[in-house]
Amino acid sequence: MSLRGVKIVGVGHYAPARVVTNHDLEAWLDTTDEWITTRTGMKRRHWTSDNEATSDLASAAAEAALVHAGLQAADVDCFIVATVTPDYYFPATACLVATRLGAREKPAFDIAIACSGFIYGLTIASGLIRSGVYRRVMLIGAESLSKILDKEDRSTAILFGDGAGAVILERSEEDSFLACDLGADGSRPELLYAHGSGSREPLDHAALDAKLHLIHMQGRETFKLAVNKMVESTGSVLSKANLNKADIAFLIPHQANKRIIDATARYLGLPEDKVVINIAEYGNTSAASIPMALSETVRAGRVKPGDLIVFVAFGGGLSWGAVAWRWAQ
Ligand code: UT7
Repeated sequence: MSLRGVKIVGVGHYAPARVVTNHDLEAWLDTTDEWITTRTGMKRRHWTSDNEATSDLASAAAEAALVHAGLQAADVDCFIVATVTPDYYFPATACLVATRLGAREKPAFDIAIACSGFIYGLTIASGLIRSGVYRRVMLIGAESLSKILDKEDRSTAILFGDGAGAVILERSEEDSFLACDLGADGSRPELLYAHGSGSREPLDHAALDAKLHLIHMQGRETFKLAVNKMVESTGSVLSKANLNKADIAFLIPHQANKRIIDATARYLGLPEDKVVINIAEYGNTSAASIPMALSETVRAGRVKPGDLIVFVAFGGGLSWGAVAWRWAQ
């Protein structure tokens, strides 16, 4: 099969209606709006209601992307959902989403690589199109992290939010996918994980009481690694694409902490207006954060054909990665 090009033809995003402000959190946590704002840049986050799940958010974002692209679900050949908060262990959330959108019987699968989900997903989806397997792929990053949060733990409860972002990728003459740089290191999963529910430590009453199924993070250590790896991965993807930092029109990083993003931008020497930050509104939405930020930026009319976008992420795994993407017409 000969290599073809790929481009993004539609974007969409969705956040659940329930907004939880820093002041709301003050009501039950030993924290303050001032601490959260200065340490993270977050002001609000959106949390799902009891009867909402990840497939609901993913479907809403996907529908918005279809409208944006002027397409129907039946026009899409394959559906991928990046998430670590699926509706169920199985079946894959993507199966539920594709059927809900009206594309029953189309291939659909999930990828679970935490905050790097969109970067890995973009690489996989682009590979499927560039190698000629599919013509159009829907890639959705979607999370309901509030469902696996320890709401009594101030060190994590304040950080995470829910939402979804979707992109539709299509075969094209031009090629937007310039390079990727992916990495993973499973030697220290405990830095960021929800361990008490899988086959290693199946969920029993003791694990439930100890809240082992909820998110646990060693924040300070993760912070340092995040900055190092995001800087390194951005440098690596640029060099693979034979480009320089000065060529970047937009850096769209995973939104884990504004201080992580600011430090990354500082090391890269990027001015503020080239770095997309929406963390104040959504908090950390893991695999959803980059496609949500991309959708907002594109829909605001800020992205022009020919712009170089670098997507970069770091998160649980540990995992990280960057993709260099040339925005097409
Ligand atoms: O998405 C995947 C990747 N995720 C990340 O990269 C997240 C990385 N980590 C972080 O963003 C930051 O480490 C945090 C925001 C989680 C924490 O910020 P920090 O500046 O690293 O604070 P810290 O953990 O060093 O804690 C400093 C102090 C501690 O008190 P003592 O021990 O100095 O008395 C904490 O107990 O802040 C305390 N603290 C809080 N105080 C008020 C921790 N959480 C809170 C809170 N409100 N919510």
